[in-house]
Amino acid sequence: MKLPLIAANWKMHKNRKEAREFCRAVIEGLPSRDLQHILLAPPFTCLETVVEAVAATPILVASQNCHGETHGAFTGEVSAPMLADLKVEWALLGHSERRHVFGESDELVAKRLEGALKQGLKVILCVGERLEEREAGQTEAVVARQLQPLENLRDLWQNIVLAYEPVWAIGTGRVATTEQIAQVHRFIRAAHGPIPVLYGGSVNPGNIGEIMRLPEVDGALIGGAALDSGKFQAMVAESLKAKGGSEHP
Ligand code: PGA
Repeated sequence: MKLPLIAANWKMHKNRKEAREFCRAVIEGLPSRDLQHILLAPPFTCLETVVEAVAATPILVASQNCHGETHGAFTGEVSAPMLADLKVEWALLGHSERRHVFGESDELVAKRLEGALKQGLKVILCVGERLEEREAGQTEAVVARQLQPLENLRDLWQNIVLAYEPVWAIGTGRVATTEQIAQVHRFIRAAHGPIPVLYGGSVNPGNIGEIMRLPEVDGALIGGAALDSGKFQAMVAESLKAKGGSEHP
């Protein structure tokens, strides 16, 4: 995996045809060395299609969630071995929509994290505070609580990327200021230094350059603006310009 990592979270968007078209446009549109900085997280129904479409490239593919158990009576869920069967090596976990729309607790996210990592998946763990938590001065306490499960998993830290996504900045067009981003990323680094930290929340082609110029930021997790292949390519190019590429072991 190469930093900066530019990750597209497609959420509940795109069918297989649209997924193929997106991949083709990005593969044809960017220099091949840039592709090693890309991760795509399509919905479950497009995972196999995307894995096939990017098979000849270094583009990484992630599911948007994963259960902690290998199998069982968990209607609606998929497991790490099922993802491995599709050659999917990464999963997003703890996305704020999973936590706050679908009610996944810190405990549940912790179980998913431990299970997924122990079964060999690499994980982008999302953390971030809600607006009322920020306004109450609880941002660092919330992020620390969400990162607590990492303490028992130190031997697997090399398979983790973190994404700081303030809930109030996701899908709202309200991006955090560079000071707010730098502050939380520094806080995370102080405790979890070796783990890369992406920023997410209303990242777009107009603001990604200044966010990526922050030395504390190792990449971006992008929703809405990453659905369009042209905008996504522009954001990858802008990020690499801001950072230059660097390798993560
Ligand atoms: P957004 O979503 O870029 O649309 O704000 C980011 C995310 O949810 O990961």
